[in-house]
Amino acid sequence: MNSINEHDAAIHVEDLRKQFGDLVALDGVTTSAPRGKVLGLLGPNGAGKTTLVRIVTTLLQPDGGAAFINGIDVVRDPQRARLSFGLAGQYPAVDENLTGFENLEMVGRLYRLGRKESRDRAQELLERFDLGDAGNRVTKTYSGGMRRRLDLAASIVGNAPILLLDEPTTGLDPRTRIALWEHIRELVSGGVTLLLTTQYLEEADELADRIVVIDHGRIIAEGTSGELKAQIGGDVLQMQFRTGDDLRTATQLLAGVGASEAKFDEDSLSLSIPTADGVDDLLATVRLLDSAGLKPDDIHIRRPSLDDVFLTLTGQPADASTEQELVEHGTVN
Ligand SMILES: Nc1ncnc2c1ncn2[C@@H]1O[C@H](COP(=O)(O)OP(=O)(O)OP(=O)(O)O)[C@@H](O)[C@H]1O
Ligand SMILES: [Mg+2]
Repeated sequence: MNSINEHDAAIHVEDLRKQFGDLVALDGVTTSAPRGKVLGLLGPNGAGKTTLVRIVTTLLQPDGGAAFINGIDVVRDPQRARLSFGLAGQYPAVDENLTGFENLEMVGRLYRLGRKESRDRAQELLERFDLGDAGNRVTKTYSGGMRRRLDLAASIVGNAPILLLDEPTTGLDPRTRIALWEHIRELVSGGVTLLLTTQYLEEADELADRIVVIDHGRIIAEGTSGELKAQIGGDVLQMQFRTGDDLRTATQLLAGVGASEAKFDEDSLSLSIPTADGVDDLLATVRLLDSAGLKPDDIHIRRPSLDDVFLTLTGQPADASTEQELVEHGTVN
């Protein structure tokens, strides 16, 4: 379990509980974000991610348990806690009627930066997040990606050591998402601790050092992306053949390769072999096939994806959302 205590960790929550009426949003969550690392909080709609973020950032009172940020108890000392973090909430919090520049300047003043410093910082951040040209436009004319960048910029105006980003790329197209990941990576390499919530497995995989998988207000798994994948089985050597004869010959030929018994499928003409040392087994396979004059259509190592992990743990894909949850979604803001 966790060896870091609430004083060492950038963020620590202990048996955190929150209920909305009969609905249990957080059902005893205990976890820590070590300093300088990225903790990914991964879960489907309604899992409790935003609830946790709102409690940690003093916007919501827990019903039970405790939350610490930068070693400060957020319930006992919310004022001091607020100086420790920057937050980009799930729904961009920019003021639509102000320009990008004015938004950032205003945040600077809220952080009690002087007038000149607020302006300088606003300009610097606009440039850094590729919004230099749009800085003097009111933000209601911004695209979704521009709003997200502005929100990210706003969350770091105060130079806080800890950053919480609640689904920073939801709703963005793949190219814009990847560009935002670059900005986020840059922040992390600058030394901030990041807690990132996401429902995208790929995003957690790309950005997080450690991933906590949460569903129905409970942690159902945690570890590195590799550990989570290993939990549900290792790599598989996958091959595709042209004919049933080739498939059968290959199956016999490769009987000794791999960690356990091969599976072949006559319909799809595919052969899959569980493997513990993927590359060695791949090379052995290629040599055996080649010596027998057999050439598969395709051969590759398949690593389990976080999607497989999620499916195994919860019995449903990560991005399955029910109508009910979409309705609930509207109340969360
Ligand atoms: N203010 C509220 N009043 C009533 N129910 C709420 C409130 N806030 C959250 N909930 C409920 O608590 C549960 C957890 O919500 P939460 O917003 O934390 O989920 P989430 O993991 O952030 O989901 P999403 O990925 O959709 O943002 C949901 O069932 C939600 O409807
Ligand atoms: Mg949320």
